[in-house]
Amino acid sequence: MDKIKIIGGFPLHGTVKIQGAKNAALPILISTILFNDQVTITNIPILEDITTTLAILKELNLEITPVSPNTFTFNSANINKFQASYDLVSTMRASMLILGPLLSKYKQAIVPLPGGCSIGQRPIDLHIKALQKMGAKITIEHGNIIASAKTGLLGTEINFSKVSVGATEHVMMAGVLAKGKTVIHNAACEPEIIDLANFLNKGGAKITGQGTSTIEITGVESLGNTNYTIMPDRIEAGSYALAAIATKGEIVLENVKQNIFGDFLTILEKTGAKLKWLNATSLQVTAPKEIMPVNIVTAPFPAFPTDLQSPFMSTMLCAKGDSTIKEEIFENRFTHVPELARMGAEIIIQDSHSVLIKGKSHLTSANVKATDLRAAFALIIAGLVAEGETVVTKLHHLDRGYNDVVGKLSGLQAKITRDQ
Ligand code: UD1
Repeated sequence: MDKIKIIGGFPLHGTVKIQGAKNAALPILISTILFNDQVTITNIPILEDITTTLAILKELNLEITPVSPNTFTFNSANINKFQASYDLVSTMRASMLILGPLLSKYKQAIVPLPGGCSIGQRPIDLHIKALQKMGAKITIEHGNIIASAKTGLLGTEINFSKVSVGATEHVMMAGVLAKGKTVIHNAACEPEIIDLANFLNKGGAKITGQGTSTIEITGVESLGNTNYTIMPDRIEAGSYALAAIATKGEIVLENVKQNIFGDFLTILEKTGAKLKWLNATSLQVTAPKEIMPVNIVTAPFPAFPTDLQSPFMSTMLCAKGDSTIKEEIFENRFTHVPELARMGAEIIIQDSHSVLIKGKSHLTSANVKATDLRAAFALIIAGLVAEGETVVTKLHHLDRGYNDVVGKLSGLQAKITRDQ
């Protein structure tokens, strides 16, 4: 079993290059199904979730050719399978996004009900109802979503009862080749949705309003040859920023952009950290002498992202007072709390959505297990500040979303190794 070992107590110093955004890359790679010609995509992060996505696309006979480590070409001309296998889909929820593109271009799809991180029930009702409203016939049989749209999907008005990143992306992709206009009300506004829309528009789609709560998609006949560079990963960047603050270090995040962070940078400043843009793509983060406690509530963009909630919790354990976290997006997203408690953290779960974090917790090393993707990084932050050698296992969670954590943290002067 792979293990990460960290000797705590060394402030992070140096520069870290931020990967392309996992959560933008996944729908962008999946939406290459919609294109007729070859598409070249760069800044693709090398992660387990990307490997899974590539494998699912290859199963459909979409041709994928590596050009360089982070650049691939995609050619959907020979797609002749419309079914994904359970082994692949069960490891990653976002893979169910192939349903909409297959339906709109090929009028049929069979996709197993998805899996993914264990952070709550994560229903897919919004996705299914929206595709049905666009004319799809959908049944669930033996754990599979079986969908068809004999005469193609039709543009319509979709009113989401809840803000959902995945469902917004799904309808956007399904609407691109649908007949007529699709309007999404109560759409998610995440930067990754803007990135997906920009990519599709570059190939000839007609999408407007991305980044606002109303998105309009006017269906087109086909999408053609294009190339695109994936946006930076704001969650990876935020994770390293929080690690730098927790360890009282100073780092530069390279390959980021100013308009992707929403309220997150303001929250970082409230901790007392100093942020300085060295140029348009490099952000310097300097930890304060004493970390101020900050209360946060996770909510859709531009509010504090749920994906940085657990790393933020580890940083708040080092603050000079108590703080609270209210998790408004997912239920059951505090599975890292018992693991942090094993390291001496004092965290009181008030109810399924709220915790109180005791600042100045004296963290000591322990053997801990990652419980989901972002929880894995939270444990690494705790290990970076804890006294002694912390061992983190269940690293398959980490590998889904963070590329070369050990290399990157070693480059920032952390004492960290990975053993098999
Ligand atoms: C995406 C991100 C994930 C992030 C999340 C919230 C990707 C690949 N993943 O996940 O990292 O944590 O956004 O920012 O981009 N919901 C329903 N019914 C549905 C769909 C969602 O009730 O059909 C609920 C969910 O249970 C959750 C909320 O809506 O409570 C938001 O989830 P959603 O935005 O859909 O998350 P994902 O797209 O799965």
